Amino acid sequence: MMSNPNILLEAKSLAKYYSVSQGWMKPKATARALDGVSFTLTRGKTLAVVGESGCGKSTLARQITMIEPPSGGELWMDGANIARASKAELKKVRPLVQMVFQNPYASLNPRKKVGAMLEEPLIINTSLSKTERAAKAQAMMAKVGLRPEFYGRYPHMFSGGQRQRIAIARALMLDPKVIVADEPVSALDVSIQAQVLNLLMDLQQASGVAYLFISHNLAVVEHIADEVLVMYLGKTVEHGSKQEIFSRPLHPYTKALLASTPRINPAQRQQKIMLKGELPSPLAPPPGCAFNNRCPYAIERCRHEIPALLPFEGRLVACHRVAEIS
Ligand SMILES: Nc1ncnc2c1ncn2[C@@H]1O[C@H](COP(=O)(O)OP(=O)(O)O)[C@@H](O)[C@H]1O
Ligand SMILES: [Mg+2]
Repeated sequence: MMSNPNILLEAKSLAKYYSVSQGWMKPKATARALDGVSFTLTRGKTLAVVGESGCGKSTLARQITMIEPPSGGELWMDGANIARASKAELKKVRPLVQMVFQNPYASLNPRKKVGAMLEEPLIINTSLSKTERAAKAQAMMAKVGLRPEFYGRYPHMFSGGQRQRIAIARALMLDPKVIVADEPVSALDVSIQAQVLNLLMDLQQASGVAYLFISHNLAVVEHIADEVLVMYLGKTVEHGSKQEIFSRPLHPYTKALLASTPRINPAQRQQKIMLKGELPSPLAPPPGCAFNNRCPYAIERCRHEIPALLPFEGRLVACHRVAEIS
């Protein structure tokens, strides 16, 4: 990865398994919440990760932000595999990856004023003076479109959109290389969503920060993504440029997700697949292709052989039948 200085982070077969209690006297089961996902994050670009609730998006976010250690795979950043890093090494790289959460009502400390919240990461990670910290916080507030007088106010005085601006400002305080945004606009009014997405895009242009942008909503992703990675039950089923994925989805699951996204131009929908049934439990995934029980194209082979993620027409697809159904 070091050959390309624009690659800020690389995940290789990243996995996270959870041991889940099945009840008294029963053996523990293993949930493969994240089951071997690979990608790179590039300077100034946005990788969108999409999929239904429960497919492993937040688990992926927790691995990338180093909130918990992965069960397997590699995570390369700054020339080191941080999946195996010591506590001291993690301390060094952690500030480089910051997170914005879905719910700006829960993620901001109600007892801290905006200024104090923004300066907190500076107190922990820098030796800036009080005056310098205040100047940095105020400059960041201006960048994210918060008025200077908000500096001394508490979060309860703000709307959801303003709170998300505060959360974004806080995430940017240490000049991170990567921001992981887990459903950052899903809790906001539709009218506010576009403003926050535009802000994220402007900030990216100015700073070169890379986004791992997580959403269950493809309409949101169409606005902001450069690349799209579609996840199903902990695995990548399709991964390619936004243009390729939106203009010609190839995996039956991607087709179904797009067909169920209301704001997308109906003329662009080729085959309409309705998504029936629920996402299976990661404790008991169907054998073969995990999507086979919901897939209108599934044949016998799909029920016992796991499809590999392979290059096909300019993107990666994991489907035995992709050549026949595309
Ligand atoms: N700490 C945990 N212990 C056990 N199972 C978990 C844990 N965290 C997540 N899971 C399971 O992993 C799967 C993926 O969850 P999650 O990453 O939250 O999905 P998403 O963010 O896409 O909705 C779910 O089935 C969830 O129940
Ligand atoms: Mg989630």
